[in-house]
Amino acid sequence: MPIIRSDWKVILVTGANKGIGFELARQLAQLKHKVILTARDSAKGKEAVDRLISEGLEVYFQLLDVTDEVSIKQAAGQVKAQFGKVDVLINNAAVLFRDDQSLAEGTVEVFHKTMLTNVVGPIQVVRHFLPLIPSGGRIINTSSGGGSMTDPVGGWSPVYCVSKSALNAITRHLAYELSLRNISVNAYCPGWVKTDMGGKSAPRSVKQGVDTAVWLATASVTETGKFFRDRKVIPW
Ligand SMILES: NC(=O)c1ccc[n+]([C@@H]2O[C@H](COP(=O)([O-])OP(=O)(O)OC[C@H]3O[C@@H](n4cnc5c(N)ncnc54)[C@H](OP(=O)(O)O)[C@@H]3O)[C@@H](O)[C@H]2O)c1
Repeated sequence: MPIIRSDWKVILVTGANKGIGFELARQLAQLKHKVILTARDSAKGKEAVDRLISEGLEVYFQLLDVTDEVSIKQAAGQVKAQFGKVDVLINNAAVLFRDDQSLAEGTVEVFHKTMLTNVVGPIQVVRHFLPLIPSGGRIINTSSGGGSMTDPVGGWSPVYCVSKSALNAITRHLAYELSLRNISVNAYCPGWVKTDMGGKSAPRSVKQGVDTAVWLATASVTETGKFFRDRKVIPW
């Protein structure tokens, strides 16, 4: 078992082999936290970990497909054996399909796959990892302004946006439930970020995109059941 000082947190990030998740793993490891970089593909995940190790960082790989309950269960078992706890769980993995163009005329397959990864995935990860999250622990759900029920509808990727509205609702209800265990649950929007999902036209870099998540994971934030962007609470 790695040595874990009391001021270091054990932080697990889902879907961290690239994009926002990868940059989160990097910045949290730079702050000396014990970061568990998870990915659904072993080769891609190990390659990502090797990249961070070559930068002098201490990061651990764990296989985890958020749509596969067996994989989630195995991951929770292995993390328990290796680290004993998870102080901060960051639900980051998500999908956005190119043919997600219409709620009225789109295929039910796109709807199912999106909901399975973006909605059922985070809740299943929470269920299996909850026994490892101590009092004072944090759950951070990666949402999107597209899921807001206040902002005007943008007309892009409607199924994805609905999945993020559901994730926001989950955040509020879970925060209420877990307040009894003193575990906070918040959602954040990284803004529109240059990644494979966000595309090249996005105005924000991954460094800018992860700022709020790093802050929620490490600063003395006492809020729960809230939605953040740029370190500020925004309307649902
Ligand atoms: N980029 C933006 O502008 C933007 C804006 C708002 C919110 N977000 C949110 O930010 C988060 C990260 O997005 P990103 O832009 O970094 O996207 P990305 O570059 O497409 O990365 C998504 C990550 O999720 C992983 N993933 C997908 N399905 C998975 C599964 N079943 N199990 C485990 N991992 C899985 C992917 O793994 P593979 O490599 O194996 O596919 C990849 O590592 C997402 O929640 C997204 O909705 C992004």
